[in-house]
Amino acid sequence: MSRLVVVSNRVALPNESRAGGLAVALQGALREHGGLWFGWSGKRVREPSDALHVQEAQDVSYATIDLTHAEHAGYYSGFANRTLWPLLHFRLDLVDYSRETYAVYRAVNARFAERLAPLLRHDDVVWVHDYHLIPLAHRLRELGVGNRIGFFLHVPVPSSDLLAALPSHRELFDALAAYDLVGFQTERDLGRFQSYVPLFGGGRVVDRGTIETAGGRRFRVGAYPISIDTALIEAQAADAFGRAPVQRLRESLGGRGLVIGVDRLDYSKGLPERFRAFERHLERHPELRGDTTYLQIAPESRGEVPEYQSLRRELEGLAGHINGRHAAPEWTPVRYVNRNFPHDVLAGFYRAADVALVTPLRDGMNLVAKEFVAAQDGTDPGVLVLSRFAGAASELPEAVLVNPYDVDGVADAIAQALSMPGAERRDRWAAMIERLRRDDITAWRRRYLAELRAV
Ligand code: F6P
Repeated sequence: MSRLVVVSNRVALPNESRAGGLAVALQGALREHGGLWFGWSGKRVREPSDALHVQEAQDVSYATIDLTHAEHAGYYSGFANRTLWPLLHFRLDLVDYSRETYAVYRAVNARFAERLAPLLRHDDVVWVHDYHLIPLAHRLRELGVGNRIGFFLHVPVPSSDLLAALPSHRELFDALAAYDLVGFQTERDLGRFQSYVPLFGGGRVVDRGTIETAGGRRFRVGAYPISIDTALIEAQAADAFGRAPVQRLRESLGGRGLVIGVDRLDYSKGLPERFRAFERHLERHPELRGDTTYLQIAPESRGEVPEYQSLRRELEGLAGHINGRHAAPEWTPVRYVNRNFPHDVLAGFYRAADVALVTPLRDGMNLVAKEFVAAQDGTDPGVLVLSRFAGAASELPEAVLVNPYDVDGVADAIAQALSMPGAERRDRWAAMIERLRRDDITAWRRRYLAELRAV
């Protein structure tokens, strides 16, 4: 079988202890056939550098390049995360329309392609990940690369009227045609992309799985909902439950119920709305005050982007307000923690929780929702409260589904989840875990790669 080459902005290097689920899955795929992982080194340098950092581990090569401060600012903190990220998450109000950052984004994609092309063998299959690298294949083709190249978009596709507001939308759409297979998270994302094609893209939908651009180039499209390593999370959660960090958390609760949220500190995650919903729940049920603690873990993310800085300030204000207003000498309703934890400790925290609040305003998939389900003890599982606007909702309809903008509705859902009888919790959980055991991360990547290889 031919070698696999994975390309993504961040590379999970073999010595990194905090690799998440996707990194583990891609490493699994690379080890299966041997391969190369190419991307940014994570280093910002002062002067442009042509250095290629190469490491080898277990039949996999890791090749990374540095970015200058200016490249990082224009490409990552600029076009990727101040233009594409808000646009793709339906937030036209936050989109930055600057042309300068788009130029840097294209230049960095070109540099990635120029460094990657000489590393490729003629029969490698190349799999590019996410919105940072949309024009990558186009530049690789210009350099004469004829390999199979696939693209997977981890984030949502918004409705076509929003996409059309991006000045460079046609260029980016045409660049997608350099891929052989473009994968989206859900059927809804695929549907919205297909409606964009004739309305604003100047192309046509040839059939469910084939798009043709105005220039006549065809490429395949499909929905491939990403998943988790279900068996690994089940084992990690059971193991971590008895170990010190989880025990300390449980003891600190003093027998109170635990509501948990774990999200990157990002405006797409609906955190201010969630804090307000928890407060609404406290206001509505004064008799339950002191019974439940809400732990929100929210590691800082993209801290150099102004919209993320103002979110951080807003959440600090809200947590202080709720605690100031509702806490008692022996009880703090909200524990708000801006740091990350190892993956297995988080799995143990999920198992210790009675309820998880996963209420993004928009999310491509949301793997926390799936991991929370996998981490439960099936004899006494916790309840998942899940946003209808997360991709995961279509695969987890037995969760308590909510509209995350509807603060009263989320407050109702918190009360429903906290008082749900054991039999109902077990039934809902059993339906969800069965699906997650079948449609796990290995099934996801095998299906995508089989279809890319078959194009
Ligand atoms: O959700 C999209 C995504 O690219 C995820 O795959 C990833 O976990 C996250 O964003 C990482 O963001 P960043 O690399 O900006 O910290």
